[in-house]
Amino acid sequence: MELPVSLDPSRRHSLQRQLFDQLRGLILGAGLAPGTTFPPSRSLARQLGVSRNTVMLAYERLSAEGYLQTRSALGTFVSFDLPERSLQPAGVALAHAAPAELRRPAPPIAFQGRAQAVVNRERLEIDFWLGKLDPCCFPLATWCRLARRVLETSERRFAEYRDPAGAPELRRAIAHHLALARGMRVDPEQIVVAAGSQEGLNIVARLLLREGGCVAMENPSYQGAAYLFESWRAQILPVPVDEDGLCVDALPPGGPAFVYLTPSHQYPMGFTLSLERRLRLLDWARRHGAYVVEDDYDSDFRYRGSPLTALMGLDDAQCVIYVGTFSKSIGAGLRLGYLVLPPHLVEAARTVKALLDNGHPWLEQAVLAEFLSSGAYDAHLRKIRRTYLARRDCLIECLRSRFGAVALSGTESGMHLAWHLPGHWPRAPELQRLAADRGVGIYSLHAGAAHDFGGCAYSERTLFLGYSSLGEAHIRAGIERVADALGESMHSRKATQRLRPLYAHS
Ligand SMILES: Cc1ncc(COP(=O)(O)O)c(C=O)c1O
Repeated sequence: MELPVSLDPSRRHSLQRQLFDQLRGLILGAGLAPGTTFPPSRSLARQLGVSRNTVMLAYERLSAEGYLQTRSALGTFVSFDLPERSLQPAGVALAHAAPAELRRPAPPIAFQGRAQAVVNRERLEIDFWLGKLDPCCFPLATWCRLARRVLETSERRFAEYRDPAGAPELRRAIAHHLALARGMRVDPEQIVVAAGSQEGLNIVARLLLREGGCVAMENPSYQGAAYLFESWRAQILPVPVDEDGLCVDALPPGGPAFVYLTPSHQYPMGFTLSLERRLRLLDWARRHGAYVVEDDYDSDFRYRGSPLTALMGLDDAQCVIYVGTFSKSIGAGLRLGYLVLPPHLVEAARTVKALLDNGHPWLEQAVLAEFLSSGAYDAHLRKIRRTYLARRDCLIECLRSRFGAVALSGTESGMHLAWHLPGHWPRAPELQRLAADRGVGIYSLHAGAAHDFGGCAYSERTLFLGYSSLGEAHIRAGIERVADALGESMHSRKATQRLRPLYAHS
């Protein structure tokens, strides 16, 4: 075991005293368990570059004061019987050991924020959680083969720091993919690889937000982005959405540093931003000197017509930052996403990424680059697109056969849809609860990974159902249970209504 100790000959105290203090601090502060073995004096002396005598004298004093014990067969270890007094030496207080009257409130921290919901912790039997992948769809065999090949051919890359913006081969492969799939002409130099969209958005916030700065966001919006900008103490300006996406006319006349939006498949409503609005949004951004942050999280799954060109593909004023992710197409556990930035922001973004973590782990990047450039990604996308389409169709068919002419939105792309409930049904949060009682997860606006800034038209009567992670049998069974729950609730409502006059007269 290497002990985290460092000695400084220029300090006032002798090396032996510094060592004694630090080892005692480790025993008390780090709570090294009784019986934890300390390294032999010779090896600790070698680790610290001091004489063995210095270490032996420090160990002797620690033993004399009851912190350490030595047994010839066991070596030197933390005493099983720490002296009562020594648990609270001056300046080293153990919060859990201190009596209540001596406990002080912890010093304040600067961070304030809440964590977004990424899974339903209730563990329901049939869970229509949004944006979840089916683990069976992960291309495990190909991934293993590529990982082995990459590991066998590039052992030196583990040893070195690399470009914090990401592996060049991956950035080239992403640029190529974006040209074909999204109509974007992108120089690989404009790409910064990040740990999912979430880190991408953190980089954007670091680049563009001052404390109290303004961000315009769709209402409702993606919780991960809303909570993030809120934690940066941004002032959020909610902008309503309708069937054509963000209501561009409702954008504030001035002020926001950027607009964050999900134009391909508005999260969570599923609307697509129309071409006419795309052009007006870019015009608005140009006129107001604001950036547009385009979160294109699930555009790989479009089931009808060709996808609209990404905002970045239409932007000739270099005001769009594109946020991409592989969380929806390969897996969220991979933690791989990226930013595409206008050229003038690239260097600053690379610096932010370097300051955050010196770049993304190399192995995942190298495997993903191979996955993309070998054509395996396209084949994988074709396969899961077919699977998700069949699941979407199954869900729509089940909803129609059980509930008649249902009002749905967001069905043309993505991995979830929105179901707008008729006015005489229970409210969405109530139906969510009734379904959960039967082991089925369906989500109202406040429960999924969405955020309503208030006054949102869809809070009460819209449910969201993700279909990508559920096989067709589960989808059918889940909707059956929802229908039963609804039937029961309507039945007891009617009974209550029939009884009400009786009660009224009594
Ligand atoms: C709107 C939106 N953006 C991005 C993401 C993906 O985030 P990440 O790439 O950090 O996994 C999600 C995931 O649910 C999402 O809903």
